[in-house]
Parts: sequence; structure tokens; C-alpha cells
Amino acid sequence: MSNTPVNNDRRRFLTAATSVVGGVGVVGAAVPFIASWNPSAKAKAAGADIEVDISKINPGQLLRVEWRSKPVWIVRRTPELLASLAKNDDMLRDPNSEEDQQPEFARNEYRSLKEEYLVLVGICTHLGCSPQHLKDGAFAAHTEGVNDGFFCPCHGSKFDMAGRVFQGVPAPLNLVVPPYYYIDDNTLLIGSEEGAA
Ligand code: FES
Repeated sequence: MSNTPVNNDRRRFLTAATSVVGGVGVVGAAVPFIASWNPSAKAKAAGADIEVDISKINPGQLLRVEWRSKPVWIVRRTPELLASLAKNDDMLRDPNSEEDQQPEFARNEYRSLKEEYLVLVGICTHLGCSPQHLKDGAFAAHTEGVNDGFFCPCHGSKFDMAGRVFQGVPAPLNLVVPPYYYIDDNTLLIGSEEGAA
């Protein structure tokens, strides 16, 4: 049977229509794929810096917050506590913070930006449990003569009130100090150092 002009026109129309539908199908399939490349708001929030109001922390108290799905502790240390830290040095594995467990600004005897406030990631450097804050003499049951510290019940690691690890425990390193800075006297920003982009 010979092709009539009508049949040829109809064939051209059907070919064109199929191409368009095919094109729409490709675009339709591409949208959800590209969308899955964009980080969700939840994922962005999980990596975001956080602001913390420290004005209500009483001397000796510890405030727990969450940053990047990790516990972060802010402890307001008393003058007595600060004065007692130097006595621990001989019992510690890395008393001078030589290991890279803190930003440069916290490589000092208090491991902090301001002496009074200690900021730590509350995760044991052995296998990742969260240690307990033992205060007002409770820590002395684990280390004679040291009244305050952090004790990890999982395998018995111990840290002082600067987050420095004691010798003779399974944790190899001091607790991590996260990047942070003071926005003002009462507000900490955790996640970045001052002036960082
Ligand atoms: S996880 Fe803390 S001592 Fe093992």
C-alpha cells in the first residue's frame, strides 16, 4: 500500500508527539533525583552552629546542650576548682594539651577561652560513652584527693575539670574542646571560632 500524504502527516505527528512525551518523562524523572541532592533543612540544622545562653549557669553547675547531634557541656568552674587543677598534672596523660584535641585558643592550663567556663564535647575518647559529672567530693571515690571530675562508667576512664584524661585508664586522649567564641558576656556560639568564615 502506498503512503498517502495524509498517512505521512499522521506518522510525523505521532513521532513528534512521542518525542515530546519522552522528553517530559525524562524531565519528570530528573526532578526528584536533583531534589535529593539538596541537603534538607534538618541536615543543615544538624551541622549548624548554636548559640547558648550561659547567664543562668550557677557556679559549679554543668549545662548540657546538643551540637551536631553530640552532647556539649558548659561548666561554670568556681575559683577553688580552677585553683585545684594544677595539682592533677602529675596524674594526667597529657596535662599540657599537646595532643590535638582542642582549638589553639584552648591549649592552656584551663583548656578554655575564659577560665571560668569550660566547654567540652561530652563523649569519652575511648569508645564514645558519655561520662558522668561527679562533683563536691563524689569523684574522690575514683581518684583519691580529687573532688570533681568526669567518670566514664563504661570502662572506668577519668577526666579532670579541664577534660584532661588521667593515666591508667583506657581513654587515650583528653576530651575534645569544640570551636566556640563569646558573642557577648552571656552568649556562647558553639561551632565556629571568632572571625572564621
Ligand atoms: S567508653 Fe569511656 S571508658 Fe570506654
